[in-house]
Amino acid sequence: MKQLSIFLLFFLLLATSCSQRGATTLFSPNEETQLVFSLTEKGIPTYAITSGKQHLILPSVLGFTTRDSINLSQYFRIVDVLHSTTDETWSQPWGENKTIRNHYNEMAVVLQDSIATQLTLRFRLFNDGVGFRYEYQVNGVDSLQLMNELTTFQIADGDQSWSTPANYDTYELDYTKQPVSAVKSANTPFTFTTSTGLYASIHEAALTDFAGMTLKSTAPSTLEADLVPWPDGVKVRIAGNHFQTPWRTIQIGHKAVDLINSSILLNLNEPCQFATTDWIRPMKYVGVWWGMHLGIESWTMDNRHGATTVNAKRYIDFAQANNIEGVLFEGWNNGWESWGSRQDFDFTQPYADFDMDEVTRYAKEKNIQIIGHHETGGNIPNYEAQMDKAYEWSTKYGIHSIKTGYAGGFKGGYYHHSQYAVRHYRKVVETAAKYHITIDAHEPIKPTGIRRTYPNMMTREGAKGMEWNAWSEGNSPTYLEVLPFTRLLAGPMDYTPGTFDILFDNSRNSPLHKKWNGLDKGNSRVHTTLAKQLANWVILYSPLQMASDRIENYKGHPAFQFFRDFKADCDWSRALQGEPGEFVAVVRRAGEQYFLGATTNETPRTLRIPLSFLKKETNYQARIYADGADADWKENPLSYTITEQHVNASDTLTIKMAAGGGQAISFVPVSIK
Ligand code: NOJ
Ligand code: CA
Repeated sequence: MKQLSIFLLFFLLLATSCSQRGATTLFSPNEETQLVFSLTEKGIPTYAITSGKQHLILPSVLGFTTRDSINLSQYFRIVDVLHSTTDETWSQPWGENKTIRNHYNEMAVVLQDSIATQLTLRFRLFNDGVGFRYEYQVNGVDSLQLMNELTTFQIADGDQSWSTPANYDTYELDYTKQPVSAVKSANTPFTFTTSTGLYASIHEAALTDFAGMTLKSTAPSTLEADLVPWPDGVKVRIAGNHFQTPWRTIQIGHKAVDLINSSILLNLNEPCQFATTDWIRPMKYVGVWWGMHLGIESWTMDNRHGATTVNAKRYIDFAQANNIEGVLFEGWNNGWESWGSRQDFDFTQPYADFDMDEVTRYAKEKNIQIIGHHETGGNIPNYEAQMDKAYEWSTKYGIHSIKTGYAGGFKGGYYHHSQYAVRHYRKVVETAAKYHITIDAHEPIKPTGIRRTYPNMMTREGAKGMEWNAWSEGNSPTYLEVLPFTRLLAGPMDYTPGTFDILFDNSRNSPLHKKWNGLDKGNSRVHTTLAKQLANWVILYSPLQMASDRIENYKGHPAFQFFRDFKADCDWSRALQGEPGEFVAVVRRAGEQYFLGATTNETPRTLRIPLSFLKKETNYQARIYADGADADWKENPLSYTITEQHVNASDTLTIKMAAGGGQAISFVPVSIK
């Protein structure tokens, strides 16, 4: 046996040295970005990227290792190189933009080793970035166990970066700004700048049956893929002898907002699989939710129980009176007593004080959608055993939207971001689709654009959301300026903005108050001004957009008019200005109306925003929700003003924001000139 392998090795080396080597090049449609593929002396595939004549990725290796030493990484020769171009426009049922241009040049490099492995490396160059994936075919095997992905990103002239440290189980972490050369590990999207003036972000697209990719540093400014393992250390299990990986992506821009305006992640996913999509509708919602995080209500059925029939009806009434389409109830079902222990939730057994028949009848009468809630606690077998039954049961009550949750370690020691988990999350989406149910996943796998293929996968968490303000130091003003340039690049987020009782004063004085988590933690509060809360409804895109506060805090509040007018469904979006961690301004069009949100970190800032995005020849009434002259997120967060003025596309607005502040504007057409 040993002799045989020595012979094989000798043969391989011989074959490699005789094989055809070489480099082959691909340009983006505007010829600005260039990718060079080449093989090393040992037949190891490498790629390098330049953009605008600047190096972005220096020659970096590609490949995989396997558990039983099947070659997936070297001794290759090029057998074919196929070039093609695609330029198409497609539309989606919802999204930041309803129509999207998919324009790229493709190069498929077909490689063969001298034994059994064929590898096609498919590269796509867009004007706003790069995607590539591996397509392997290995003869003579019936399964594969991938150990390491060797994909490397050797970043040239790296300057600053923004990321959370790599973690196999949670994305709910703080972001660090640090030089690219100092990064030890990162979750993706990993966003960075170069000293040559580029902005870029590394992520992945179409993660449907693979391990999630994190990044680890192998040398300064060199990051290697680090896949999330199964409990036995195997990274990816392949049934059969062929597989393709998710796309490895690098978004590239000259401005930070170019990254936000890029659609390459969606373009690298498969088209929508569903025959009809009219059952998938964006909506605004409120919910019996924040009180639990503050500790003044409970998920379990005790004297603080939030999801009671009486409370449910109050929320339904409020939604109906305020142009809000949906209401979420958490803590409506049996099992919350076992949260954190057995995680034995029952998804078809309401608590005795939550009358499902009556609540759903009432909601139907008031034309309000109910968002069901399935907290699994990480007990996947329990959820998968009930999924079909629970979805069917929900639809009988007219519930077509479910918020899922995985707050707890996965039973069996599987990581939240492993292939096991990725398969589960996809199974949820596919099973839900059978029942025309849409999903909002908390503690999810990161978004990679699969919403294009399965548009019922509407929104998800996957970063620290509003909840962290209730029971921890919370999310800093800067954190909210990093999110749009990192986590949000990957897809919608159910951050749940819109807390008006920023210092929790009303809740502190609530008769419901029993155990005050906020005070227990010392200094919990929301770390923005009120105007920044409004602006986040625009900036933090989610097709299911929540007003997170308890409804008591909205009743009679003039600033809540912005949410009443706001549309969760939009047609077109543009990030106008911004820098990661500093500030951002985003505009969205919904029908004939526009909504603009601008926010800043701890530094007060004034932006000049030309309104050239408005329709020409049209006058608009702009209602401006601004920070008060004396507003300051720390000292005076509740100071705001509402003013109105007529504007048109040739105007420029001066947007003055307080420290930790922002501004939200609705534009309604008043006349056509
Ligand atoms: C964590 C989720 O992010 C939050 O929204 C939910 O209320 C709790 N888990 C309970 O399911
Ligand atoms: Ca969470």
